[in-house]
Amino acid sequence: METALVNTAYLVAASLFILGLKQMGRPRTAVRGNLMGALGMAIAVVATLVGIWRREEPLGYIIFGTIIGVAVGAVLANRIQMTAMPQLVALFNGFGGGASVFVAGADLIQSTGRVPDPQTQLAVLIATALSGVIGAVTFWGSLVAFGKLQEISWMKKPFHVPAQQLVNASLAAFMVLLAVFMVMSGSPLMYVVLVIVASVLGLCLVNPIGGADMPVVIALLNSYSGLAAAATGFVIDNNVLIVAGSLVGASGVILTNLMCKAMNRSLFNVLFGVMEAGSSGDDVDDIYANVRSTSAEEVAMILETAERVVFVPGYGMAVAQAQHAVRNLGLMLEEKGASIEYAIHPVAGRMPGHMNVLLAEADVDYEQLKEMDVINPTLETVDVAIVIGANDVVNPVARTDPKSPIAGMPIIDIDKARTVVVIKRSLSPGFAGIPNPLFAMENTLMLFGDGQQAVLDIVTALKES
Ligand code: TAP
Repeated sequence: METALVNTAYLVAASLFILGLKQMGRPRTAVRGNLMGALGMAIAVVATLVGIWRREEPLGYIIFGTIIGVAVGAVLANRIQMTAMPQLVALFNGFGGGASVFVAGADLIQSTGRVPDPQTQLAVLIATALSGVIGAVTFWGSLVAFGKLQEISWMKKPFHVPAQQLVNASLAAFMVLLAVFMVMSGSPLMYVVLVIVASVLGLCLVNPIGGADMPVVIALLNSYSGLAAAATGFVIDNNVLIVAGSLVGASGVILTNLMCKAMNRSLFNVLFGVMEAGSSGDDVDDIYANVRSTSAEEVAMILETAERVVFVPGYGMAVAQAQHAVRNLGLMLEEKGASIEYAIHPVAGRMPGHMNVLLAEADVDYEQLKEMDVINPTLETVDVAIVIGANDVVNPVARTDPKSPIAGMPIIDIDKARTVVVIKRSLSPGFAGIPNPLFAMENTLMLFGDGQQAVLDIVTALKES
């Protein structure tokens, strides 16, 4: 009876996860979807605690752990800057993987000496090995991804490991061998060795990946954390963990695939093709020889007569928190008769949907947000394009230089607009670490300054004109 009740609660929780995911597919219903997912998780946690309590197993440690987890989670979620959200996601993925390692390991230690039927034991041991391997790879891989995204100086560039791919392949082969021994012996010690080798592999796998490939890695690690959780669900026979883990695993794979397409890279190439940030050989001074800077007043004058204006937001808009100012400038130009659109690149910013979230927060009409594929063929008829804090996603070398680290990545072809105004603080490169010839093109004007202040200055100049 109690098991039936707990399983019914799990079913409700799983349904809420699925409905929540569906609602998150549209900006208008995304907040509701998020709340549904959180409610589903709350139901799953309570049902699990009730189940443990009814079995008269000790709850003290779990409640202690839950209180610490809730406190740390609440502080992190409240304090974190929007721009640091991908790092936080990387950490969450990592903790999920780490938790799977510990839960599966604890179950293995506890079950030593128990004699279940051989088939169940084999299945559980295989699931334990998978939890340990995937969880450890996810934990350490995510920590490296966190360090790279947080731009911790000694982690930005990969450590040089001679014959890295050979080392990785050897580690993977050794790990499979260890997993087989662990499953055959059921030895906790073998599990520990397996986890250590998987941890080294996790570090080695993410170490060489950098630059523009990081979003794909985060999505993939997200998927791994789900798979580790699902495997752990089999170990401890918990249905909701299996369902939730599978959902995370599957959605992570779908997201990984979408991101690879957005960057025109195969997953194999992302994971095994070493890509160093800033490996373009061109001389920066030559590239930027003809850069022309402008003023807010000049930009306001150009905008006065523009009929079609397109904003291209990027990571710098998030840093400057300029979304409200951008929206106000857009409204002002609309009042003057211009049509306003926002060109959204799928990997602009530092996480999937970053620009959509910022612009939605500023109440920009969703109809004005145009995806890259939709807007690209129409850019020649744009009078003024305002690139605000975007760099890599508008870098024409992706089209023209096959040796560039971002070669082949689809970009917003904003250089085709009649006039391009680029707002940024300097000529510093973006995430991929390479110069951008767009800044020196004939139709480009650079408005140097903080994104928010520059837009406010344009608004003031427009009011005064
Ligand atoms: P980036 O290429 O990173 O360029 C951002 C630009 O913003 C910088 O060049 C910077 O120039 C400028 N900036 C920073 N602070 C600013 C401020 N306060 N005011 C004005 N400008 C400011 O951005 P992007 O074009 O959005 O491209 C995103 C890159 O990140 C891609 O390479 C992508 O692959 C990678 N990435 C994406 C994700 C996801 S999932 N979206 C995750 C991780 C990495 P100044 O310093 O000169 O101001």
